[in-house]
Amino acid sequence: MCGIVGYTGPRQAAPILVDGLRRLEYRGYDSAGVAIHDGKCLEVVRTLGKLRVLGEALDKRTLPGNLGVGHTRWATHGRPSEENAHPHVAGGVAVVHNGIIENHTALRKELTDGGVRFASDTDTEIVAHLVDRALRAGATDLVAAVQRALARMEGAYAIAVLSQAEPEVIVVARQGSPLVIGRGEDETLAGSDIAALLSHTRDMIFLEDGDVAELRPGKVRVETVSGARVERPSKHIDWSPVMAERGGYRHFMLKEIHEQPEAVSATLRGRIDLDAGDVHAAEIGLDPAVASRIRRVYILACGTSYHASLVARYWLESIAKVPTVVELASEVRCREPLFTADDLVVAVSQSGETFDTLGACKAAKEAGAHVLAVVNVLDSAIARLAHGQLYTRAGPEIGVASTKCFTAQLAALYLLAVYLGRRRGALTPERAQAHLQALCEVPSHMHELLGDADYVRSVATKLAPARSVLYLGRGLNYPVALEGALKLKEVSYAHAEGYAAGEMKHGPIALIDADMPVVVICPRDGTYDKTVSNLQEVRARDGQVVALATRGDESLHDLAQHILWLPEVPAAVLPLLTVVPLQLLAYFVATRKGHDVDQPRNLAKTVTVE
Ligand code: AGP
Repeated sequence: MCGIVGYTGPRQAAPILVDGLRRLEYRGYDSAGVAIHDGKCLEVVRTLGKLRVLGEALDKRTLPGNLGVGHTRWATHGRPSEENAHPHVAGGVAVVHNGIIENHTALRKELTDGGVRFASDTDTEIVAHLVDRALRAGATDLVAAVQRALARMEGAYAIAVLSQAEPEVIVVARQGSPLVIGRGEDETLAGSDIAALLSHTRDMIFLEDGDVAELRPGKVRVETVSGARVERPSKHIDWSPVMAERGGYRHFMLKEIHEQPEAVSATLRGRIDLDAGDVHAAEIGLDPAVASRIRRVYILACGTSYHASLVARYWLESIAKVPTVVELASEVRCREPLFTADDLVVAVSQSGETFDTLGACKAAKEAGAHVLAVVNVLDSAIARLAHGQLYTRAGPEIGVASTKCFTAQLAALYLLAVYLGRRRGALTPERAQAHLQALCEVPSHMHELLGDADYVRSVATKLAPARSVLYLGRGLNYPVALEGALKLKEVSYAHAEGYAAGEMKHGPIALIDADMPVVVICPRDGTYDKTVSNLQEVRARDGQVVALATRGDESLHDLAQHILWLPEVPAAVLPLLTVVPLQLLAYFVATRKGHDVDQPRNLAKTVTVE
């Protein structure tokens, strides 16, 4: 969703802001803008569409100045347009904002009744007027004015504010939406995430909800909304700037697919004790006695993270012998789920900011459950809310379609199953060793699969004209079928549906004809015979079959037009591997159609609204 960047220091602000916004593009946006302070005045430039258009507008008029804020907007209140693009200005105040101000209708009415004329349909413009009004009413400085404005606002937001009267100062605040501060020697930056700032500094301050910070060149002062001084130490980030670059790949998505062996290795590193047949993960924050008492694991997630969670259910039940429920966080919030203090609630999220997952976790925490975050982004909202954190270590994921974070989540969740299995007496050290050994071998099998990319590309050329594709799998392969279908629809805009193969006869079989490609995941595992029967049913109706099969399974040649080969591995680790050719397939179909795979239409990387 929206992206924020701010800069105050000795350098020219505009190029730094545009570069930072470019690094936030992946979050999704429809318009962009900057406000620059040249020491005397604030100048604002806003454009509809991609950052290229903003860049062209900035090329036409030089905007000198060492202080500025920039924004990419993903429309919520008011359609995408130049007038609704940020920054919004009132008097000498410019504001950029990410999130939603829930009481905007009441505030807008109050301001309108007081004589304010609005220039946009956004909730953000309200903030600019509230800050301007506070300054006119005698607030001592911009920090005090922002604090007064925030006291009136309800909802989730991150904001950055400039005032014409203070040519070195940016005031930022967060409540529920992400915002980080980057500290340089003699300069200070702000951004919606680490990736926007990494090329300038790796020393970051993570604000807490309710914090208001005054940024000056090289200086940061943090207060609460009510004005109490608070200390927020800076943390050194171990993500390197090159991790957030394309590094020779045509797209981030392709780069991230190829980074999966390392993402999985990094997630396992230091957590596996093969000799003892155990997992070291004190950060889960569970007392061993509590771990043995857990009655149920309740996993909450959205999208791809939900699919990883569905895989984890198989592992938690079969390895740790713990009853497991997996729910879409957005649906849980429509019910009154009966969380208890005996539940281990696991929130799975790449961004750690997904609004619904965060909201569902809050409810679980209030009910007394132990909340564990399996997230990729350090210090993200879900990580902070949780009692324990099992970080995936996939590095920054820029492509909107999640790939390496999915497999890193699977690696972390597999570790969790073994960890709980050992503590609950459900798993002997020998069995645990076998699981962990298989997991350690996953990265090298991933390399093998990535080596077949050219063949996957040739299959993609056959699939590209299809308007609709069905993905089938049973057992552990079913969530991977869901994920394969999600990847295809996200980036290729073809309709794709993942289905449990056993359900095909209960409906989807009606769709099958010569124009309907069916991707069937049928490795030689416990589901093989039944899945092959489904495959035969598809062939009998002239369906086009792409099979994912265990290398050497020649019997499938008669049933499938195309076979994507899988290595022979223990069945439990298959989801970490079967997904790789499906990601490649989606990528190649989308690029063949000429789509922008890194920023597919309408999608945002971090979904901070309901
Ligand atoms: C994945 O390809 C999607 N872009 C999307 O489904 C995503 O997984 C979902 O929005 C959840 O995000 P999170 O993992 O950051 O919580």
